Formats: sequence, structure tokens, C-alpha cells
Amino acid sequence: MASRIVVHNVDAGYGAVRVLHRLSIEVREGETVALLGTNGNGKSTLIKCIMGIVRPEAGEVLLESDGARIDLTKRSTEEIVGLGIAMVPEGRRLFPKLTVEENLLLGAYRPGARGDITRNLAFCFEAFPVLRARRTQLAGSMSGGEQQMLAVARALMSSPRVLLVDEPSVGLAPILVSRVIAKIKELKDRHHLTVLMAEQNFNQATKIADRAYIIVHGKIEFEGQSMQELRGNELVKKYYMGL
Ligand SMILES: Nc1ncnc2c1ncn2[C@@H]1O[C@H](COP(=O)(O)OP(=O)(O)O)[C@@H](O)[C@H]1O
Ligand SMILES: [Mg+2]
Repeated sequence: MASRIVVHNVDAGYGAVRVLHRLSIEVREGETVALLGTNGNGKSTLIKCIMGIVRPEAGEVLLESDGARIDLTKRSTEEIVGLGIAMVPEGRRLFPKLTVEENLLLGAYRPGARGDITRNLAFCFEAFPVLRARRTQLAGSMSGGEQQMLAVARALMSSPRVLLVDEPSVGLAPILVSRVIAKIKELKDRHHLTVLMAEQNFNQATKIADRAYIIVHGKIEFEGQSMQELRGNELVKKYYMGL
């Protein structure tokens, strides 16, 4: 089943503040696409537009699947999750006073995912053995890296085909960043997920991305078809490599 997400000429923001300006990106099935940009450039706003949390003022957000075009701007977030798109929010947003397992179960709240709970829980514990070992531990008592793994696993509880991951590296020690990024790649490779990952951490994101967009002040300033092309780009050198 071939599917892709198409964001086309989107304007979006908060009240009078316009954050995204005629922004277009595309994520095709099976790709890992990095959305690179420093703080405040609109990465999270774009992810929220795809999830129906922020409503664009203009433009299109589509899920194209087997010839059908579904307009996501007309769907609720719950419906969008039901269509197989899940978000790992910035800052993880776990329930710290609930256990690992309870947090995972909350990821399966939508009716379509409830029937798959047993299978998805087994899948999460296989993908993240540390979570199995800590299933009765309070989420808030785990390390930052473990909490990020839990946030990713919770998103997997809704049986998604597309995963939107918002800054998984934030607040983590470098060794943990590598581990989380490697895990996202493993999920993509072994379980055929399509991934859009917002990151400020250029070096880590480009380790696993097939291609990338650079967002500056709510506009796509550069689109690289390969990591090689991206690394050779002047804008990238200036903003990310200090050259
Ligand atoms: N809820 C909000 N209300 C008003 N402004 C917001 C809100 N969320 C984000 N912004 C503003 O939108 C801009 C882009 O933010 P964001 O999408 O979070 O960027 P990034 O994820 O790249 O750091 C920033 O200037 C930020 O202050
Ligand atoms: Mg953000």
C-alpha cells in the first residue's frame, strides 16, 4: 500500500502570528525525512499541522493512499491517528506518575487500536527490552533516554504507518541521543515505518535520514535529495557546521 503525506503551500500560525509561510514538503512511504532547523523556526508547528492540532489558514495537508486523497485539515486529531499517523511530541509528554505500562496503554486509546493492544504491547517490549524490564516503574523515575524510548513506544501503540518524531534528541546526553536515533532507524528498517523527524541536531539526524528539508523562519530554505547533497550545501555549512 503506497502512501505519502503532502504538505502544499501551507500558511499557519497562532492568532495574528504567522509561523509557516507557503510551506511545502512531502514524505513518501518508507522514507526517513529530516526536518532540520534551529529553535523557533516552525518545526513543531508543521508537525502539529499534519496532526490536526494546528489548523492551517491556507494550503493543503493530504494523506495520499492508493489513489485516494484524504484532506487532513478536515479531520480531527483522533481521526488522523486512526488513519495511521502518530506523533512523538517534543518534550515527550509522558504521564510521570503512571507506570511504563500505563503510559503505553494510553497510546492505544483510539478504538481501532484497542483490539491490537496485546500484539502492540508485545511489539513495544520486543523493540525496547528496557521497557519490559521496567513496565511497573513510574515513567517519571526513568532516565531521559528511557523516557524518550517510552514516548516512541507509546506512539507505536496506535499501530501507525507514519511516525512524526519531534526533536527526540532534546535534553539527552550525546550517548543517549545516538541510541535513540539508532532505535528510530531500526524501527524504520525492521517495521517499515515512514518517519518524519524534526531535529536541531544536524549530525545525528543526518545519520539516519534519506533526505532532508531545512526550515528557516517558517519557510523551506533548502531541500536535499541526499545527505551528500545536504552536507555540500552552503547554507548548511553556515548554519550547522560553523564553516
Ligand atoms: N502556542 C503558541 N502560541 C503562539 N506562538 C507560538 C505557539 N507555539 C509556537 N509559537 C511560536 O511559533 C514559532 C515557531 O515555533 P515552533 O513551531 O515551536 O518552532 P520549533 O519547533 O522549530 O522550535 C516561534 O516563534 C514560537 O514562539
Ligand atoms: Mg519544536
